[in-house]
Amino acid sequence: MDKMKMEFQHEKKPVSLITGAAGFLGSHLVDRLLAEEHFVVGVDNLSTGNLKNLDHVISRNDFLFVAGDITGEMELPDLKYDYVWHLASPASPKDYRRLSIETMMVNAIGTKKMLDLALAHNAKFLLASTSEAYGDPQVHPQPEEYWGNVNPIGERACYDESKRFAEALTMEYHRRYDLDVRIVRIFNTYGPRMQINDGRVVPNFICQALRGEPLTVYGDGSQTRSFVFVQDEVEGIFRAMTCHGTKGEVFNIGNPEEYSILEFARLIAQICGVELNVVYKPLPPDDPRKRCPDISKAKRVLNWEPVTPLEKGLRITLDYFSSVLRETITR
Ligand SMILES: NC(=O)c1ccc[n+]([C@@H]2O[C@H](COP(=O)([O-])OP(=O)(O)OC[C@H]3O[C@@H](n4cnc5c(N)ncnc54)[C@H](O)[C@@H]3O)[C@@H](O)[C@H]2O)c1
Repeated sequence: MDKMKMEFQHEKKPVSLITGAAGFLGSHLVDRLLAEEHFVVGVDNLSTGNLKNLDHVISRNDFLFVAGDITGEMELPDLKYDYVWHLASPASPKDYRRLSIETMMVNAIGTKKMLDLALAHNAKFLLASTSEAYGDPQVHPQPEEYWGNVNPIGERACYDESKRFAEALTMEYHRRYDLDVRIVRIFNTYGPRMQINDGRVVPNFICQALRGEPLTVYGDGSQTRSFVFVQDEVEGIFRAMTCHGTKGEVFNIGNPEEYSILEFARLIAQICGVELNVVYKPLPPDDPRKRCPDISKAKRVLNWEPVTPLEKGLRITLDYFSSVLRETITR
């Protein structure tokens, strides 16, 4: 760590701390920041992440991985941090149900610790929030000003409400201490390095199609979702931190193009080259009927919008899941 510290301090590069760095989005953000010539410290407790996501960068001397839980005592390299990117939190419904209290703690205590760290270092801070802050919305599409429709005691509350708390805390640090913060509300993101069994629709459908199983549709499949490819999402996150005029602001970063789940199942079957075969299961509680971002603010302030066509992103994701499945079969 000492050698690392010397190298980090020797070169005048921006230093970024990413929480949740071994996760799906965190690991792609690591790649993006290394490409921008940041020194990156990635922290993760590996509760839902995977060190494999960082295999390709782990031995670089401009990247340091710290295994640790950000809600507890944790030793970070003694550096001057310029940016704190706070992404740590279980994100899929399957994970946050299993880790419900841990999810609430990382979004409450973990967020406070990261805000304190940003304050001590006079660093810029970004909170990865979620479209689930809108709950089951009654306004479509959802602009950032919409306050949402969340069941505070339902099964999803451990995630939705703790993210809402994290947003409120972040804004209080901004108001009270003038901390340079921003919040991104991330909408459904897909791409390589998603967990294969996290229960979300993209890995579910692709893996079922690859195994020749019917695709599981919850409800009647008329509920809509929008999907943004991971590289586009990371670009939006990057711009929210680095563009002018983002201090104290909230941005929806997602894709406004909506698909019904049945349409989406049809597309996946077509891309995987299989016949569409569906089994229906009951909708989980508080599952939103419709969720779609209004991204006019991100377009205006960040000059950002998703650029990867769904079919192209899905083909890249399909290649990734095919190789993961091949690995598990040959092991
Ligand atoms: N992927 C999406 O579509 C999506 C949508 C909305 C919001 N988000 C948000 O983006 C962030 C990243 O999501 P993701 O999809 O990469 O999820 P992920 O589960 O792949 O990554 C989260 C990472 O945080 C780590 N982590 C959890 N608790 C921790 C703790 N206490 N200390 C240290 N590390 C901890 C996990 O081990 C994991 O590596 C999350 O904050 C999530 O709420 C993601």
